[in-house]
Amino acid sequence: MATAKVDGLASYEAEDAIASRSSRGTLARTAMYVALAAAWIATCGSLYMSEVLGWIPCLWCWYQRIAMYPLAVILAAGLVLRDRNLPKYALCLAIPGALASVYHILLQKVPAFARFESCVVGVPCSADYLNLFGFITIPMLALAAFAIVIVACVIALSVREPAGENYLAYGPLTVLSPAASVGLIVAAIVALFVLSGAMTRSRQPAPSIATSAPAAALPAGASREAAAALYEQACAGCHGPANAGMQLIRAEYLREHSDLEVMALIRAGRSATDPDNFSGKAMPANGGQIGISDEQLAALVHYLREVRGN
Ligand code: HEC
Repeated sequence: MATAKVDGLASYEAEDAIASRSSRGTLARTAMYVALAAAWIATCGSLYMSEVLGWIPCLWCWYQRIAMYPLAVILAAGLVLRDRNLPKYALCLAIPGALASVYHILLQKVPAFARFESCVVGVPCSADYLNLFGFITIPMLALAAFAIVIVACVIALSVREPAGENYLAYGPLTVLSPAASVGLIVAAIVALFVLSGAMTRSRQPAPSIATSAPAAALPAGASREAAAALYEQACAGCHGPANAGMQLIRAEYLREHSDLEVMALIRAGRSATDPDNFSGKAMPANGGQIGISDEQLAALVHYLREVRGN
């Protein structure tokens, strides 16, 4: 082939090389904007769960938040500033964050890890509010976000650009500047979560219960099956499955308290420092759930009594 190295062919080869390099630049740029979106969705999603749904983050949730929240800011700033070192900074947060997620998943999914339980006060780390399809939990979602960021950074670091080129010089759609692109992506994600937060809150019933209403007025619609399903969804994360005896719900507590008192306790929760607290862990208000109606709550208390034999 050496004889074929005429000028024309050589310049074609050079053009090909630049084209492939710049398409890799496009890939790297797109990857970093996907990472930005992932970090912002994770940040807003975690705030939605704690601030709107009232789910109290456990210790390991906090470690992951410590990595995720600055990651969202650094990715935005680095893209706006077109800083080619951005992937390196982002990896410094995403790798420890991913490790924290992996440890948290082990705490939840591997019984042998439960004895390393590090949460003395507050929500047990091995409990999970979210268990989609019986499998996907909050730290798994966090791990997915960290993994997206890590993969994007590795792609971006592997790009070799022609001298004087910066793949971060443009936004993902080359018509928009990086600052405009970052602004649009972040604003869209934040707006989505604020809007759904506002909608969720407007559906939330008043937090108090009508103490004058007789608790015996269990509506016909509030079936035992519905109460059992609500227990598994809303309470079993901390209290264990009903057929395992409902840990942390003492039979004598139910015996000594009226339906209304038990309902009021579930509505209000019990902080770890409450004088009545016996386990050193907190029971979140409404079990951390929103939208449990008084009827559902009354049925739930009947169900607790039935299972605990009181
Ligand atoms: C995030 C974990 C968590 C969730 C979710 C949760 N609880 Fe609790 N709950 C606790 C803890 C921890 C205690 C023990 C507090 C203490 O030590 O006094 C408790 C205590 C209670 C008690 C008082 C038991 C007693 O013996 O004093 C009742 C009743 C109760 N929970 C009902 C519920 C119901 C019903 C739900 C679901 C709607 C629920 N909990 C959801 C953590 C939780």
